[in-house]
Amino acid sequence: MTHPLVFPPGFVFGSATAAYQVEGGATDAGRGPSIWDTFSRTPGKVWNGDTGDVACDHLHRWESDLDLMAELGLRAYRFSISWPRVIPDGRGAVNNAGLDFYSRLVDGLRARGIRPVATLYHWDLPQPLEDAGGWPVRETAEAFAEYAAVVGAALGDRVDTFTTLNEPWCSAYLGYGQGGHAPGRTEPAAALAAVHHLNLAHGLGAAALRASSTADPGLSVTLNFHVLRGAGDGADEAVRRIDALANRAFTGPMLHGEYPADLLADTSAVSDWSFVRPGDLALIHHPLDVLGVNYYSTATVRLWDGASPRQSNDGHKAAAGGTAWPGSDAIVEFVEQPGPHTAMGWNIAPEGLTELLLALSAEFPAQPLMVTENGAAFDDVVSPDGRVDDPLRVDYLARHFAAARDALDAGVDLRGYYVWSLLDNFEWGYGYAKRFGIVHVDFETLARTPKSSALWYRDLIRSQP
Ligand code: FCB
Repeated sequence: MTHPLVFPPGFVFGSATAAYQVEGGATDAGRGPSIWDTFSRTPGKVWNGDTGDVACDHLHRWESDLDLMAELGLRAYRFSISWPRVIPDGRGAVNNAGLDFYSRLVDGLRARGIRPVATLYHWDLPQPLEDAGGWPVRETAEAFAEYAAVVGAALGDRVDTFTTLNEPWCSAYLGYGQGGHAPGRTEPAAALAAVHHLNLAHGLGAAALRASSTADPGLSVTLNFHVLRGAGDGADEAVRRIDALANRAFTGPMLHGEYPADLLADTSAVSDWSFVRPGDLALIHHPLDVLGVNYYSTATVRLWDGASPRQSNDGHKAAAGGTAWPGSDAIVEFVEQPGPHTAMGWNIAPEGLTELLLALSAEFPAQPLMVTENGAAFDDVVSPDGRVDDPLRVDYLARHFAAARDALDAGVDLRGYYVWSLLDNFEWGYGYAKRFGIVHVDFETLARTPKSSALWYRDLIRSQP
């Protein structure tokens, strides 16, 4: 296969996973429960009652998984560290057996010439911290900083880049507002408090990582930006409101050092934001070596007219995160997107990625960017000879890599690209029903089979000058 896609020297071709989605070993070697263990055991919360108890069993199969990554020629692996595996109670005693797993993983990656990129929080909050209030309380951010110091001291001599948080939007709004993610609370004011304490955790965590790392790893955060289109009367207003809630609620404090005034005004009936203490914004505002960008699709929003049945497709995690804001004078709804769609129902819009990268680079000209997730779920079929041919995923990836290439051509400082995901895995509320991997996982035997998309990716990486 020939690939017209040529990227700058040093461009990072990676793939990503997250601890709860792939590791399994839920109670191995002293790991404590997380909010996703609790949530997935709660009837009706996750498709088919699936849990991450075994997942891909990556905890035990990590060495052969690393060999597979090496065979594909991956230059970097973005994984996440399970906080409850490292500090089972969330605060206090460190579980060295848990920390050792990540230490071996990092060494194994480096031995294979693959850069280790570690996310500290990909949604698996230790359950005892949720029992003490979760992200709506400030102490959770302080606990995160303690955990970051432990991780920095243990791995900060060998990790290439640390990412504090993955998609705090999901943690705050899906976890505490809409309730489709753990811990499943539906309290709008708590969701806004969670936004702030996640931002604070990022700032405190970044400082702790810098202070405790003996080498000089890069620091980043990964956000799921909403690329918005407006519909109907008041389209611009609908876009402005969701842009404030979903995008600027995070980039504002992290990269500009302040919350957007319109966000505070829009949500004033829900919260007075008094949880923002003097000095917090300076703590959150940290220079980032790289800003992580997760992109899957666009979203169309409109002001709800108050009469028609409300739609609830948020264009990403399906079930309307951030849609209804009780107390706000206007409710914004997410409108069904025209196709084509992936198996998640997400519309396929590669041009949205170019647009997003250009917009970020215009707003933050000195900020290097990294696509930390992009990929697609499709209903893969295993052929009788055991192969998994996934032309739709190949096409999706090829078009999004081309979109990233377009952004580079337009001058964007884009450093690399991580395909979501290396392995089929536990897709949160969808359990094992949705397959995002470029490597197929048989959840009965746990056998791995690279799909055609993995071979396509290997060839793309090999074909680089
Ligand atoms: C992102 C998550 C990741 C995975 C993909 C499909 O929101 O970060 O864990 O679920 O979506």
